[in-house]
Amino acid sequence: MNTANLSTSWAVIGASGFIGLRTVEGLHGRDGVNLRPVVRSATSLAVLARRRLDWRIADPRDLPALTEALRGCPVCLHAALGDPVQIERMATIAYRACAAAGVRRLVWLSSASVHGQNPPPGTDESTPLHESHPLAYNNAKVRAERRLEQLARDGRVEVVRLRPGVVFGPRSRWITDAAADLRAGRAGWLGRGRGVCNSIHVDNLVHALRLAATVPAAAGEAFLVGDAETVAWRDFLLPIALHLGLDETAFAEPPPAPLVAERTPPLAALTRTRLYQRLGDAVPDRAKRLVKGLASAWPAPAPARDAWVLPRAPAGRLTLEQTLLQGCAWKLPHAKAARLLGYVPPVPFAAGLATSLEWLDFAEGRT
Ligand SMILES: NC(=O)c1ccc[n+]([C@@H]2O[C@H](COP(=O)([O-])OP(=O)(O)OC[C@H]3O[C@@H](n4cnc5c(N)ncnc54)[C@H](OP(=O)(O)O)[C@@H]3O)[C@@H](O)[C@H]2O)c1
Repeated sequence: MNTANLSTSWAVIGASGFIGLRTVEGLHGRDGVNLRPVVRSATSLAVLARRRLDWRIADPRDLPALTEALRGCPVCLHAALGDPVQIERMATIAYRACAAAGVRRLVWLSSASVHGQNPPPGTDESTPLHESHPLAYNNAKVRAERRLEQLARDGRVEVVRLRPGVVFGPRSRWITDAAADLRAGRAGWLGRGRGVCNSIHVDNLVHALRLAATVPAAAGEAFLVGDAETVAWRDFLLPIALHLGLDETAFAEPPPAPLVAERTPPLAALTRTRLYQRLGDAVPDRAKRLVKGLASAWPAPAPARDAWVLPRAPAGRLTLEQTLLQGCAWKLPHAKAARLLGYVPPVPFAAGLATSLEWLDFAEGRT
């Protein structure tokens, strides 16, 4: 542990990720608040360790370690990601660790995809959620939110849920993947990119995170947050192509992906049953660690993909996610965030995209 001398500290779980890192960069030292990055391993500190920060190492799935890492922080911002099963589990563990460590407020990064990538017109935070989305990620995010609402009924921790859409900015995979697809000649869009892209520049999200952490009226609420402008996918994708010296002809018009739901592996489905969760709650942590230790002595199968990542489109096809996203006809409103949090996005879309492309040049060694 680094030993910086701190006043008020907010913990950031998943501080090594795209949003977590930008949150630390944007909020550390502001208004007398210091940020305490909480990461799962020493290798996750590669960028963070360049600054004098009071970081801790704790896996967001390890309740005792996480509890220790959160002690002394009145606020915890959760920006970690796992596979769909881990997303749900992380919500429970985050709440319990916050409660045990005396954290007053947990700000949970949920996602606009709890409403689907192509939400019906009129959707806002009052629209009931469901768990029948074709993408497992969406359903996991819904379950995580529900679990947090349920846990927060004991009143030990205030929970605020933020639902951003497409979060872009420097270091964003939305930028690097689009550039890679364009260069590889496999970029595609639907209806010439006329669908609505519910974008939010990462610095606008960091601003919303700060408000969610501090505004008393936010307690217990969920907020959609986005950019001020209504952005079409072509407003997002075409400037990337032009920046690379390409034009509109770089985008193919592949047929939309068939609307087939992702399959849930049987073991993941088992972990979601009430009986399994009750058993999990009843078994003491020490016993769980013992079982895990014994299990790890067996030869391991090939590791599963760790966190949810944007699926890449096969050449000449759109992924299901792209099909849904680009078929969107509804700009998700952030009127509730404006009203209760005073949220006004500080970064205009065009300026945010320009700095993202500047970063791309830097990352690819062109500046
Ligand atoms: N990016 C978007 O467009 C977007 C949109 C809506 C919502 N969100 C939500 O915002 C949050 C942050 O997203 P992001 O884009 O910043 O993700 P990211 O860049 O992939 O970062 C994920 C973070 O979670 C950690 N992590 C990944 N797998 C883990 C595991 N199995 N166990 C423990 N830690 C793990 C990573 O640690 P390592 O560095 O050690 O790998 C990293 O710190 C997520 O909850 C995501 O659902 C993102």
